Amino acid sequence: RVLRPILALDDFEPAARRKLPRPLFGYVAGAAETNASLRDNRNVFADWAFRPRYLVDVSRRSMATSLFGTPYKTPFGIAPMGISAMMAYRGDLVLARAARDAGIPMIMSGSSLIPLEEVAREAPGSWFQAYLPGEEARIIGLVDRVAAAGFGTLLLTVDTTTLGNRENNVRTGFSTPLKPSLRLAWDGAIRPRWLLDTMLPTLRRHGMPHFENSYATRGAPIIARHVERDFGARDHLNWSHLALIRRRWKGKLVVKGILHGEDARRAAEEGVDGVVVSNHGGRQLDGAISAFRALPEVRAAAGSMAVMMDGGIRRGSDVLKALAMGADFVFVGRPFLYAAAVGGEAGVQHAIAILSSEVHRNLAFLGCQSPAEVGMHHLMRVGGVPG
Ligand code: FNR
Repeated sequence: RVLRPILALDDFEPAARRKLPRPLFGYVAGAAETNASLRDNRNVFADWAFRPRYLVDVSRRSMATSLFGTPYKTPFGIAPMGISAMMAYRGDLVLARAARDAGIPMIMSGSSLIPLEEVAREAPGSWFQAYLPGEEARIIGLVDRVAAAGFGTLLLTVDTTTLGNRENNVRTGFSTPLKPSLRLAWDGAIRPRWLLDTMLPTLRRHGMPHFENSYATRGAPIIARHVERDFGARDHLNWSHLALIRRRWKGKLVVKGILHGEDARRAAEEGVDGVVVSNHGGRQLDGAISAFRALPEVRAAAGSMAVMMDGGIRRGSDVLKALAMGADFVFVGRPFLYAAAVGGEAGVQHAIAILSSEVHRNLAFLGCQSPAEVGMHHLMRVGGVPG
């Protein structure tokens, strides 16, 4: 089987590179400008080493975690990612089902081909991520629709004030909607499995994938135009809109993209339930600090809010370092898209199983019965700038 040689999350990437057309792989793998933040997201974990604890009976250890009163099987989930449906046929559902069956949260992206109601029906525990323009009427329309669909957690991504400068997409010829071109046709022809497994069934079911915003009304403008227009409007978004959302949305409210203690403090004052510390996988402000570096300050400012993080997590050891640094929960992005591209739902299940087993094993070395026992005392700084 295609999954047998895949022993670690990083093994999915070369396999996905072989399967996907170049512009699509590049869109997922890429980041902004010099990729400084993308690199730092990975490198920062090496600045901290574990101080393991032995002679503790950890035979009954469990990874079970609870967030917003919901029990999860592991302390990690699937980050929201647009264009999942180009990685695998109806990829948002592929991710949502695999997460549902594994007992972990999947955050559905607002940039999706699949209507949000369908994901909520299929995997009712999924969260919904929104990109919002600073326009009251549209904010209210979306919030009400997400509530009516039955989502319990709404996550507002705030680091998309404007679109990150992703030169890589220009170089590889990536665009949404995918523009039919000789280059793309050639790319598809030499990667027939992607064409047969993903593109042709998508064309048959949805027509040319327009990446309609999953929350746009049906038949509304395609996502490319929609998103670009929204990006124009998004630089209006401010704290007063967050207050409006908080008044309107009765479920759990999470803000994603926080990197500053003061922003975390303000979010807590506005009644937000949690923040995802994140630099958007290095895809927005190049040179922004990695979430891992921002964790201590955000944790200190967050009060009783849940603190989550994402960016660069590829190993169980990264998950545990993030928890030690103050995160309650983490999310993983790209590897799950690669897994969906390589092996569909079974691929995503395999990715979840790999990361779970790494967390479970390393919990034992730390002498911990549960993720909640992991703390700063398990870490020592061994590199980088002293904080
Ligand atoms: C993203 N990310 C993202 N974030 C978000 O809030 N809404 C979105 O629609 C998307 N779309 C998206 C597409 C793709 C292809 C990627 C790679 C990322 C960012 C994502 O949620 C997360 O913050 C990072 O991907 C986490 O970093 P790693 O795990 O990919 O290193």
